[in-house]
Amino acid sequence: MQRTLVKHALASDGPVDSILIQAWVRTRRDAKSFSFLELNDGSCLKNLQVIVDANLPDYLHIEKAATGASVGVTGKLVPSQGKGQSWEVIAESLTIVGESGTDYPLQKKGHSLEFLREVAHLRPRSNLFGCVFRVRSRVAYATHQFFQEQDFLYVHTPIITASDCEGAGELFRVSTLELKDVPLKDGEVDFSKDFFGRPSYLTVSGQLEGEVFATALSNIYTFGPTFRAENSNTSRHANEFWMIEPEVAFCDLEGDMDLAESIVKYLVRDTLEHCKEEVDFFNQFVEKGLIERLNFIVERPFVRVSYADAVTLLQQSGQTFEYPVEYGANLQSEHERYLTEVHYQCPVTVFNFPREIKPFYMRLNDDEKTVAAMDVLVPGIGEIVGGSQREERLEILDKNFETHGISKEDYWWYRDLRRYGSVPHSGFGLGFERMLMLLTGVGNIRDVIPFARTPGNAEF
Ligand code: 4AD
Ligand code: MG
Repeated sequence: MQRTLVKHALASDGPVDSILIQAWVRTRRDAKSFSFLELNDGSCLKNLQVIVDANLPDYLHIEKAATGASVGVTGKLVPSQGKGQSWEVIAESLTIVGESGTDYPLQKKGHSLEFLREVAHLRPRSNLFGCVFRVRSRVAYATHQFFQEQDFLYVHTPIITASDCEGAGELFRVSTLELKDVPLKDGEVDFSKDFFGRPSYLTVSGQLEGEVFATALSNIYTFGPTFRAENSNTSRHANEFWMIEPEVAFCDLEGDMDLAESIVKYLVRDTLEHCKEEVDFFNQFVEKGLIERLNFIVERPFVRVSYADAVTLLQQSGQTFEYPVEYGANLQSEHERYLTEVHYQCPVTVFNFPREIKPFYMRLNDDEKTVAAMDVLVPGIGEIVGGSQREERLEILDKNFETHGISKEDYWWYRDLRRYGSVPHSGFGLGFERMLMLLTGVGNIRDVIPFARTPGNAEF
């Protein structure tokens, strides 16, 4: 007999004479002449209730159908007498597939998120994490849908690279050199003896390679893992995270901001429409008012404010911040949150940042002081998108290499894009986990990624 997923059983159009469910036991309650099993197979939040009559021969091993055990049940799908579910199964056979010990860590009582991180290999079996990872899967699918519907091509940019796109030096080195016996040349490590014959790293962004493809295929996106060796232990930073990075030829900063706003809204709308059960769960147990907040994001245009105006606004806010607000400094998370949560109370796109605080590739504005950069900030999180129009003029790009202390010879291929058919082009990176935090209300990035990589943590 073919297996039926719990979500399909619960959504059945009518009774079914013979059904096979294979799932894990969430709970068992024993009555006098029968037992109730609550089964979950991760296909949806709700459990399927199974009634096992004490007269059934298989009832002999009912004790083994303990919380956490895996079972196979055949029987009839019938309208449920109890409340809370439409259908239940009257068992005709019960097979214990894999027993579970009484020390199974996920017992019925609720567990703290901290505890669940310590059992990251079991937490997908909890209600919260089942919901989070179903949403994660759907949002990945919707991301592809968003771009594919608009003729963007999906490009797989490399994970191992020799360049530091963001220039922040937060790179994980990739090397096969023997740590105990590193080859030296003139007192320095001789990377010509390393695997790739040069220093190489895990990518911090697929952007530079994305630009190569955008200046050939027009509209492209990458969507993959990126790595940053930053030692920040916050609820919004991970050392391995996924990024959605579109790159568009013949597009300026305005078009870039429009695209960023439109994908954020698209993903919110898609989640509200396709993950109703999960969003209701988050709204009830994670963040009261989540649905209202998501609807609000979809309905209103994001506010757009220049960096200079944002700084003035913060300085005149009368608010005391831990970090002072100064023109020329990066906006800190407390500043970002003031803008979105207190002042505008909606998502905000900040644009035109001072050139000194931004990477080499951003396009210099006519004022020669600012670059055509933008960040989308959202309430509760701060920055979820960072992007820019790219410098397409070779002379200015070369000056940027110089001021950033980057050897332009290393970027000969990137410079070639400006030498042969250069075009204005723009793109951005949307942090996939930050987007998920926005969609679920989950407050810590460690809880929206299957296995979080943070300083000191690479278990599992
Ligand atoms: O602003 P960032 O550093 O921009 C870039 O990497 C550009 N090269 C992207 C581009 O233009 N193609 O990062 C983009 C986004 C941030 O807005 C944030 O959402 C996310 O990536 N992000 C992180 N997410 C989790 N943990 C971290 N450590 C992150 N660093 C950035
Ligand atoms: Mg950024």
